[in-house]
Amino acid sequence: KQNGARPKLTVYLAAPRGFCAGVDRAIQIVELALEKYGAPVYVRHAIVHNRYVVESLEAKGAVFVEELEEIPETDAPIVFSAHGVPKSVPADARNRRMFVLDATCPLVSKVHIEAERLFDRGHEILLIGHAGHPEVIGTTGQLPPGAINLIETNEDAYSFVPKDPSKLAVITQTTLSVDDTREILAILQDRFPDIAVPRKDDICYATTNRQDAVKRIAPKCDRMIVVGSPNSSNSMRLVEVAERAGCPRAMLLEQGSEIDWSEFENIRSLGVTAGASAPEVLVDTIIDAFKERFDVRIETVTTAEETISFKLPRPLRDSTAA
Ligand code: F3S
Repeated sequence: KQNGARPKLTVYLAAPRGFCAGVDRAIQIVELALEKYGAPVYVRHAIVHNRYVVESLEAKGAVFVEELEEIPETDAPIVFSAHGVPKSVPADARNRRMFVLDATCPLVSKVHIEAERLFDRGHEILLIGHAGHPEVIGTTGQLPPGAINLIETNEDAYSFVPKDPSKLAVITQTTLSVDDTREILAILQDRFPDIAVPRKDDICYATTNRQDAVKRIAPKCDRMIVVGSPNSSNSMRLVEVAERAGCPRAMLLEQGSEIDWSEFENIRSLGVTAGASAPEVLVDTIIDAFKERFDVRIETVTTAEETISFKLPRPLRDSTAA
């Protein structure tokens, strides 16, 4: 290794990054189900939004579908993805006598329960989130059509016309930009002082911590790589957060082989983080690729310690003891 001429590069590794407790649990549910019941295990929707994770599970015998109709009559388990599902889905599964293992993140379920509680108390509900995202579809589907109004932007918050401003409540998607959401909440609270707001918001600890860590390193990074897939909401938010916090250019990459080196000429510092659904092996492929071209010094910047973990569904609990 006579690469004495390789340029020096400081890599700031954000911590926490990558898997959150909800993603970890969801993947474990599919893996344990495969071990305990054998293949196939059906999974409704990408278990988490990461191509590598989905392909690895497929290789072990998981079969991914978008809707229950696609599944033949079977005793095999059906796993619901971490993003949660509309109420009609478990109801449909019961009718078909399917064996369901629900991998909905408990922090998403918490928002579902909150929505129901507010609705039962007679509130009209606003949901801050992104149209079409499976979590938004799932949360909206906890209540009858029309009960939840989606707010995507500041403009939506300015123009929304409530039925009764004294009976309004707001909930949020778990993977939003903390700062954008704060702005939207401020607009709503300003317009509707009586609006019922969750104690903070419903953005989860993992989303918050990953954004905080990126904000800390962004100002000293010439470039930032967010490891994640384009359909991952929380990963996309990390790209935006990095650029707003002062990194001249941030980009989403799925793995090291995708790097466009023209983007990284003459840089001296690089930030690296990963969305909540991106496995650490993919982060390694990025860092290894940089090590081949640069004399890399890694500095991990830790802004929070995460210790949270969630219980598995009952049928799978014993299998972890083994
Ligand atoms: Fe759950 Fe947050 Fe992860 S809602 S799945 S802990 S990103």
